[in-house]
Amino acid sequence: MQQKIIILDFGSQTTQLIGRRVRELNMYCEILPYNKFPADDPSVIGVILSGSPFSVYDEKAFRTDLAAIRGRYPVLGICYGAQFMSYMLGGSVEPANSREYGRAILEHVDGTDPLMNGVEPGSQVWMSHGDTITSLPEGFKIIASTDKVPVAAYRGADNEQLWGVQFHPEVYHSKCGTQILRNFVVDICGGKQDWSAASFIESTVAELRQQLGDDKVVLGLSGGVDSSVAAVLLNRAIGKNLTCIFVDHGMLRKDEFKNVLADYECLGLNVIGVDASEKFFSELAGVTDPEKKRKIIGRGFIEVFDEEAHKLTDVKWLGQGTIYPDCIESLSITGTTIKSHHNVGGLPEKMNLKLCEPLRLLFKDEVRAVGRELGMPEHLITRHPFPGPGLAVRILGDITPEKVHILQEADHIFIQGLRDHGLYDQVWQAGVILLPVQSVGVMGDERTYERAVALRAVTSTDAMTADWAHLPYDFLAEVSNKIINSVKGVNRVTYDISSKPPATIEWE
Ligand code: XMP
Repeated sequence: MQQKIIILDFGSQTTQLIGRRVRELNMYCEILPYNKFPADDPSVIGVILSGSPFSVYDEKAFRTDLAAIRGRYPVLGICYGAQFMSYMLGGSVEPANSREYGRAILEHVDGTDPLMNGVEPGSQVWMSHGDTITSLPEGFKIIASTDKVPVAAYRGADNEQLWGVQFHPEVYHSKCGTQILRNFVVDICGGKQDWSAASFIESTVAELRQQLGDDKVVLGLSGGVDSSVAAVLLNRAIGKNLTCIFVDHGMLRKDEFKNVLADYECLGLNVIGVDASEKFFSELAGVTDPEKKRKIIGRGFIEVFDEEAHKLTDVKWLGQGTIYPDCIESLSITGTTIKSHHNVGGLPEKMNLKLCEPLRLLFKDEVRAVGRELGMPEHLITRHPFPGPGLAVRILGDITPEKVHILQEADHIFIQGLRDHGLYDQVWQAGVILLPVQSVGVMGDERTYERAVALRAVTSTDAMTADWAHLPYDFLAEVSNKIINSVKGVNRVTYDISSKPPATIEWE
């Protein structure tokens, strides 16, 4: 049985990070809303309580039933989690005299406590709290302090398997954070560290076979990492009972439809490639409003997918490449609906299909590791994110096949240039935007009056925030020259130096 650490989410922004750090220790974990602790799950070996935007004494503060956890599993409370346990068990928590955010140094450390094993005094930790524990429940013991926070870490009374840390061990700036999480997960909870891409594939393939039996599954491929890995995994489990549909809406990158289709075929996938570009071009003709463009493409995609899927017989399931962060965002706190970020959102109801989401418990870097383990080519795995509506949201104003062609050529030069200069993997995402302006230029002896494009490249970790990539000037100059000299219709290249926020990554 796969051992499991449960992380109860009280709404902190770093809850997902706790999950990632535990997974980095090769331990499987699940993040659940604070009030959804699973009763009688024999695979649970320990529980972590996350931070929270609330104070423990707020009326609206999230509370969990500690009796369901205490004494049954080792528990580690982080920030609010630590304050909550202390408060509920008779200690006091008060607003701190000075709120503490950022670096702090552990001055006193009880190295004999198993949680603090190997943590040296002088270790840097990361604090982010407005409240502080001013007195602990009876018998509880301080096991670490900073100069400002006497109770930086504590242990329950009579060596109970209960710990709290005021700082955030999951944050990379907490230098001893990994050691503390390892001490908890491995030494205290007895984690076997048996979670790996290979073990995930083995158990998921077995579960999928059990879940799906001889049922048929249809899956929409986008060329992106998530849907591709989901398809290859499903293919391993059920082979020809999986049919994939890859729709070309005419707004993909240069040669992408052809190349990605060839990749999919090499991987042994049963793929139907549908060139629906004419339908999309005619529906988009004359439309300039960004949201209308998105809606037309989203609806058109569903229509094409639905029509193709109906040609198949007996399909019962819709496969999707939903990943963990997609689920947690909406699961967090309310524990209700999981929002679909995928282009086929709305399809399961329309087609009366059941959903199969084999990657729903994986973080993005784990999806990539699984893809590698499944033998997928590196260029499919490290591919930049690309918006579902494709180049349509990178052509400002109305869309014509001619504009798409110009943009595909310019985009190809930029992306190939990034690859040739070893810069592709250093940026999160890059592309070119075709601007709705013309400007005067001179080429040879001729005056020109042609289009301007903007290059966009950003660094990011999750696309929620992003900075413009500080690409070398010489590289930008080379790309600009190449585009102006070889893409007919473009005589000016600019570089977008806006961060998100306040700008967004895409221009539309
Ligand atoms: P923004 O422009 O909001 O983009 O900063 C954040 C990330 O989302 C991608 N994006 C989309 N993806 N359908 C998608 O599938 C869309 O309509 C869409 N709009 C933006 C964008 O490429 C970036 O990675």
